[in-house]
Amino acid sequence: MKKICKKLMVVMMVLTLVFSMTACGDGNQGSGGNSKEDNNAAADDNGAPADNGGDSEDDGGEAADNGKGDGKKVGIAMPSKDLQRWSEDGAYMKEAMENNGYTVDIQYANNDIGVQASQIENMITGGCDILVIAAIDGGALSEVLEKAKAADIPVIAYDRLIMNTDAVSYYATFDNEKIGIMQGQYIADKLDLENQAGPFNFEIFTGPTDDNNVNFYFGGAMSVLQKYVDEGKLVIRSGTEVSMAACATPNWSQEEAQKRMDNIIAKSYTGGEKLDAVLSSNDSVANGITNALLTAGYTEEDFPIITGQDCEITSVKNMLKGLQSMSVFVDTRRLANVTADMVDAIMNGEEPEINNTADYDNGTGIIPTYLCEPQVCDINNYKEVLIDSGYYTEDRLQ
Ligand code: BGC
Repeated sequence: MKKICKKLMVVMMVLTLVFSMTACGDGNQGSGGNSKEDNNAAADDNGAPADNGGDSEDDGGEAADNGKGDGKKVGIAMPSKDLQRWSEDGAYMKEAMENNGYTVDIQYANNDIGVQASQIENMITGGCDILVIAAIDGGALSEVLEKAKAADIPVIAYDRLIMNTDAVSYYATFDNEKIGIMQGQYIADKLDLENQAGPFNFEIFTGPTDDNNVNFYFGGAMSVLQKYVDEGKLVIRSGTEVSMAACATPNWSQEEAQKRMDNIIAKSYTGGEKLDAVLSSNDSVANGITNALLTAGYTEEDFPIITGQDCEITSVKNMLKGLQSMSVFVDTRRLANVTADMVDAIMNGEEPEINNTADYDNGTGIIPTYLCEPQVCDINNYKEVLIDSGYYTEDRLQ
């Protein structure tokens, strides 16, 4: 009898282990993974669960009974599942909060501002005790958040600051300026701009101006690179003005970035000139740039330096093929945990941990912020950063 019990326990332990490895090892990254044919170097292998065009996905997640949450309801509003980034952030948060004993209502808005506002409204009327919002347009939520404020529902801005409303209590994000600096410094180092005269051909692609982060990404990168543009070491052949608006990519859209790069190549690189570096603020934009360059006949031998952010699978694969130079790794597991801890503290009447009370003014005053550390990732350290840390399994990058 004892023996049977022992055997049963061993079987149960193995099963638990296998189950938890499946849940964590693949980082809840859904069904995309490496099963898709990667027939375009910068295709859309975003590793995200399919977004069936739907604008909402309430899974009515069950709260585990082991935390301080006591079944309280957290509403999580995310921009879209189209980018691997957001589907993973959402999955990690949901898991962390459910483990803390909360019920989670998570919604993805298909990058539609109106849909996101009405999802938030439903969360308010649906009895959410706290809201975590990654805004599509940081300036478009003032009205709906008035209702959150009136109902005494605290709001955490997730990753992107929500502007011009005093309904926001806290902000959890990465050190966005540092991300921009890392991208700019990578280009400066690789071209050895301190010592080389150049001139090097250079173009700039950032994100949409309605994402407050872009101020920091663009500002951080240009704090490193502007002087080389001024000295003539970096030459912008397209003649694009060095301003956030002129270098913007609406909606962080891969297609928009590709179109813009197609046009730049067709207009300004007609005489056999080659690009030496492209500043791109994130991976979806970098993928559009890469596609345009491949179409124009660039090969891994003469590919320019291209920066990125998020370490999305498509971009890491491109890095391994020499079609993107670096990406800034923003560990979404970390941000999700920081946010889950914030929720827990607020719901229990405690002060959440913050580490920045200087830089993030949303137009109504400084929002107390927790900044997570970003990390440069390229072909030299991707194993350590992405695989040894358990973020990806090696086979997903094949
Ligand atoms: C995030 C980036 C992301 C981009 C596109 C930004 O607000 O900070 O990590 O790549 O949105 O979704």
